[in-house]
Amino acid sequence: MKDVDTYDLSWDEWDELQRPAAEKTDFDDVVEAAISRRGFLSGVVAFGSGAAVMGTGLLSGTSAEAQTASRFGFTPIPIATDGTVHVPEGYTWQPVAKWGQPLFSDAEEFSQEIGVSVASSDRVFGENTDGMEAFMVGNRQVIAVNHEYVNTKVNLPHTGGETTSADDVLILQNMQGVTVMEVAEGPDGWDIVVDSDLNRRITHNTPMTIAGPAAGHDLMKTSADPEGVLTLGTINNCGAGKTPWGTYLTCEENFNGYFGSSDPDFALPEGYGRYGIGLEGRYGYEKFDPRFDVSQNPNEPHRLGYIVEIDPSDASSTPIKHTALGRFKHENAATVIAPDGRVVVYMGDDERGEFMYKYVSNGVYTPGGPTSALLDDGQLYVAKFNNDLTGQWVALTPEATGMDEAEIAIFTRTAASAVGATTMDRPEWVAVNPVAVEGYCCLTNNRNRGVKPNAGGDDTSINGPNPRAENNYGQIVRWYPSNDDHGTDTFTWDLYVMAGNPTVHDDKYGGSSNINEGNLFNSPDGMMFDSTGLLWIQTDGNDSNEDGFAGMGNNQMLAGDPSTGQIERFLTGPKGSEVTGLTWSADRRTMFVGIQHPAAPFPDGEGMLPRSTIIAVKRDDGAMVG
Ligand code: FEO
Ligand code: CA
Ligand code: CA
Repeated sequence: MKDVDTYDLSWDEWDELQRPAAEKTDFDDVVEAAISRRGFLSGVVAFGSGAAVMGTGLLSGTSAEAQTASRFGFTPIPIATDGTVHVPEGYTWQPVAKWGQPLFSDAEEFSQEIGVSVASSDRVFGENTDGMEAFMVGNRQVIAVNHEYVNTKVNLPHTGGETTSADDVLILQNMQGVTVMEVAEGPDGWDIVVDSDLNRRITHNTPMTIAGPAAGHDLMKTSADPEGVLTLGTINNCGAGKTPWGTYLTCEENFNGYFGSSDPDFALPEGYGRYGIGLEGRYGYEKFDPRFDVSQNPNEPHRLGYIVEIDPSDASSTPIKHTALGRFKHENAATVIAPDGRVVVYMGDDERGEFMYKYVSNGVYTPGGPTSALLDDGQLYVAKFNNDLTGQWVALTPEATGMDEAEIAIFTRTAASAVGATTMDRPEWVAVNPVAVEGYCCLTNNRNRGVKPNAGGDDTSINGPNPRAENNYGQIVRWYPSNDDHGTDTFTWDLYVMAGNPTVHDDKYGGSSNINEGNLFNSPDGMMFDSTGLLWIQTDGNDSNEDGFAGMGNNQMLAGDPSTGQIERFLTGPKGSEVTGLTWSADRRTMFVGIQHPAAPFPDGEGMLPRSTIIAVKRDDGAMVG
């Protein structure tokens, strides 16, 4: 989602006003150790120290050592500030699916003037593409993809963006959620297979089952669902994941903003504050759909903020909300099988001062064996990072939290605070290396640490993996599970990269040693490994290209080598867009990339509306991409 901060007190002003002197400590020693522990390019200082150092060649990736070690199948590209997508020489891109494009032949074509009609709104590709995964169903290729949020002005042009009727609300509800679509490559490239029996829209109104510890709890019951086991819709679907058994995991992020109250004096129930649920919804749903009116349905918000499993091979299947994976602002889900067969799911909660989580199933996965309980019966953990570069996954048990299992599932943030989890700089995507036992999490930025009280967590303290007071640039933390086992509850950690700008700063805001003039970026967000173990990093940050962000250009996608730390730029997005969502065709010769909320008239050109789009990127020689 477009990353906007409105508070303007500087860190120094806040620091002077608010923080006790004892806390005014930089974590330089910790960070220096965290950055150097795994042998990045040797002999390089830990922090960038200005343009002079950048000119040595060692940091710019042009040294003999770096070239020998390079495993990038592309020539890095410069930044861009224009309105289109750029990829390296020898690669080409084309649009595959655009906001409003029909999935079924009975849907009307997208109109520049009216956007999408209410009748067609659940028969077309939704807006603001985000996390996605590709699946094989027989010999057919299917992409499941999220539609995170809507721009009301373009979806409701007849009202100027106001929701004035139940139909207006319905259009917005239908343009979000998830698309499942068959895609195929023909002579003119990739396209949606219109009318495929696998095509499906899942919206804010699709029935889904509630499973896991919170199912049937009193806090989950509503007048429409007195049993607390069947709910409608999945909302603000951000990142994604997939299971080893071929299902899609969609992650509900900023669900809080969809609720409001028709009664301005309604006393908000306990538990709303920590999740930021208030009296006025961002889209006015509550005015026309009582489900989103908390004064009428105070338990409805408890039924969102989960991870939902969708079977892409059956368009009539009922999605399942897995409450054992916790309720928070879920970013994505990175799933891996531990050596003993248990299923491990790593997850981030994208809010300043919130936490990183891990779920471990009680049962084991066997290919072709039963899977139905694997995401409902298990243990949820939260991460604690120590400044000596060790860490623990702390189990959220009734004994440790003083809460019962259903309460832990519903008020997960409160449970995690009770065990002293480490506050983080906005955990975005988590990724697990397929060729080494290690995990990564993008900590996108924290521009207003402590200035704007967050939903209830404490983000005033800097700590080892979040070492910069005013963190405009973000960092990627990496952890190494003990005994090379993702199922264990201890790990060691380091920082894979601290983004920064060494052309502007000569301190830790210059970034770690693998940041140089040739690969500047800020706010890492989307992140996926390819099957060879190359780490693809997508950004959602400040694209002003000015001041501290000079030389970074539009949002972009880079590739990182986990072992050398080398990072190179592969793709730049159009002005105003966020690059988010990444998956591959079955033969790995096509990479699908999501372009969310472009501000320029992308991809159709001058005079046309900007449209959020999935693009396909291929090598001209037909070789594999990543
Ligand atoms: Fe939807 Fe945290 O990004
Ligand atoms: Ca994101
Ligand atoms: Ca973001």
